[in-house]
Amino acid sequence: MNSHAKIPAHVAIIMDGNGRWAASRGMDRTRGHARGADSVRACIVAAITAGVRYVTFYAFSTENWGRPAGEVDSLMELLCDSVVRETPELIERGVRVVAIGDREGLPEKVRRHIDRIEGDTASGSKLTIVLAVNYSSRNEIARAAARIATKITTGELSPENVTEETLSAELFTASIPDPDLLIRTGGECRLSNFLLWQSAYAELYFTPVMWPDFGEREFAAALEEYAGRERRFGNIQPTQNN
Ligand code: FPP
Repeated sequence: MNSHAKIPAHVAIIMDGNGRWAASRGMDRTRGHARGADSVRACIVAAITAGVRYVTFYAFSTENWGRPAGEVDSLMELLCDSVVRETPELIERGVRVVAIGDREGLPEKVRRHIDRIEGDTASGSKLTIVLAVNYSSRNEIARAAARIATKITTGELSPENVTEETLSAELFTASIPDPDLLIRTGGECRLSNFLLWQSAYAELYFTPVMWPDFGEREFAAALEEYAGRERRFGNIQPTQNN
């Protein structure tokens, strides 16, 4: 296998540890999120350099609404500010931004900023950034099932023709390849309702590094670890096959 084949096409990231990073420095949690936005930028640069085609960032889960209102508001503001600040450079670098998640459940201002960055970066062809905002994987799968049920009810689809592809096509990620590598920072080893269907065969990379400390070097280290992994997709090694 050549070295290019060892670069993951799609890296998905659970950005965890912002709050602990801030608390350990006597700072407000929101300062950790702000520094986390710098890590997003660093990973975008590292992804372009490495030739990764898609990076998905878990920016806000449906469960995150349970946080104190001040923290939720500051996360929404940070998202809007980042969109405004980063759009020119993203366009210049050939980056396209798309969002996944329940958009209807977001404040109108956030929806507007997401619509705007998707439109402004639509022609980017080097790297696609997928922002998971107000995202829940279980909700996404249930929504896909409901859409399939509707198609069956209207006669557009018959039950025996429902396949994995049919369901994939109804997910928010329909036009996005499944992640090859899923990174979680902050030391926890769980998926937290993130891309559960899509990550069936993703390589998982858990690191104790807090998200604000995760930069270009850490991203490169995750890619290096991925390059050393053997992906078998449920099969056995070719040499064991005879
Ligand atoms: C988890 O850390 C992080 C989040 C819930 C938010 C992630 C958002 C950003 C980094 C903001 C910028 C994003 C973009 C795309 C511009 P945590 O607060 O759960 O950390 P903790 O486990 O230490 O409390």
